Amino acid sequence: MIKISMHQKCIKCGENYPINQIIYKCKKCGNLLDIVHDIEKLKELNLKELFNKRWKSRQFPFMSGVWRYKEIILPVEDKFIISRPEGNTNLYSSKNLLNYTGCKWLRLKHEGENPTGSFKDRGMTTGVTQANVLGSKVVACASTGNTSASLAAYGKFGGFKVIIFIPEGKIAYGKLSQALAYGGMTFQIRGNFDDAMALVQEASAELNLYLLNSVNAFRLEGQKGIVFELLQQLNWEVPDWLVCPGGNLGNSSAFGKGFKELEELGIISSPPRVAIIQAEGSNPLYLSYKTDFKEHIEVDNPETIATAIKIGKPVNYTKAVRTVRWTNGTVEQVTEQEILDAKAQVDGAGIGAEPASCATVAGIKKLIDTGVIDRKDKVTGILTGNLLKDPDATVNYHMNKIPNIKPTYANKPIVIDANLDALKRALKKSTPEQVQIVK
Ligand code: F0G
Repeated sequence: MIKISMHQKCIKCGENYPINQIIYKCKKCGNLLDIVHDIEKLKELNLKELFNKRWKSRQFPFMSGVWRYKEIILPVEDKFIISRPEGNTNLYSSKNLLNYTGCKWLRLKHEGENPTGSFKDRGMTTGVTQANVLGSKVVACASTGNTSASLAAYGKFGGFKVIIFIPEGKIAYGKLSQALAYGGMTFQIRGNFDDAMALVQEASAELNLYLLNSVNAFRLEGQKGIVFELLQQLNWEVPDWLVCPGGNLGNSSAFGKGFKELEELGIISSPPRVAIIQAEGSNPLYLSYKTDFKEHIEVDNPETIATAIKIGKPVNYTKAVRTVRWTNGTVEQVTEQEILDAKAQVDGAGIGAEPASCATVAGIKKLIDTGVIDRKDKVTGILTGNLLKDPDATVNYHMNKIPNIKPTYANKPIVIDANLDALKRALKKSTPEQVQIVK
């Protein structure tokens, strides 16, 4: 493989750093760093053709939906790569969800189909691979649950010691069980995600832990694989919109960078407009957007049932603003009721996803209702996590156990005695269309 150079660069002051320096923020001005690729050199490789040739490859590492695009993600030697492999997630279209959202054309990419059940695996494969390149032994992150599940799996898979910081009692059970099961050393912080994030940044500097939150620019490189794969599934035809939830704002930041690079490479001529959706009680980007980003607003006590995006001080704020500007995008907020009703619709369509993911669908519906998205626009959305991650949110909705939430689309279990008469009586009361009583 041709050696392709990369370096790290501050997004604000432009200071450059070598690719293998362990650094997360600019030493001069404290801003975030980008991984910069040599676009002119990459143009010579005819990447679109190369990526198409690798489509459905079974060969390591190209069977991964991240490493298929390795030249524009992380061109390292294959021997360093730690891959489960990730990606190759499906793109769904659903009549029910067309009706629900009001779209005429909608595709949902289900990142909950990754090895640990969330989109985080895409960035984790590049993050732990870089840790491997650097010879780090201990990897760490703060998390609302999915990053920790992913780091625990990929870290242990790659032979690292894994240290995790989570907000006490505030992460979904499926995610906590993954962190424990994979053997991550798990610290429950008395505080929220933002407190855990501050602690892990301090700890990584003092204790020589390799930090694998999305403040690590190598994580974001892997997340770009989501939109590269999405476009490839669409034969590189760019949709009008890409809609995703926003928490720590890593994903949306990566999408903007990925689209920009594809544009520079001449693979697409312009990006889709990116819409970032936040929960009403955890909406720092939305509040800042409302000031035209003149103010950078943070939320002190974020609240939402979508615990994955319960974040008041997102570390990638500046990069997400860049995505909105680069793509002529937008930011919207949705209520708890809207998230949970959208989730019931996504689940009931036979697709299923965790609450934060369904902010995407709630957001699409809202943006159609308010006329920001035209009904005729081609809309793509990202479902970020698997339905099984947060069984409590699902069951409590259907059992009407969530305070202040109306279970609009409840599907309650029906308790009956174990005999046929009882079953027939119950079926007569509310007969699902599919079940016919023949006698
Ligand atoms: N959806 C899910 C299921 C998530 O787990 C997250 C983030 C997001 C959306 C938001 O993505 O942070 O890139 O804006 N979860 C992180 C975690 C924060 O720790 O697992 P983002």
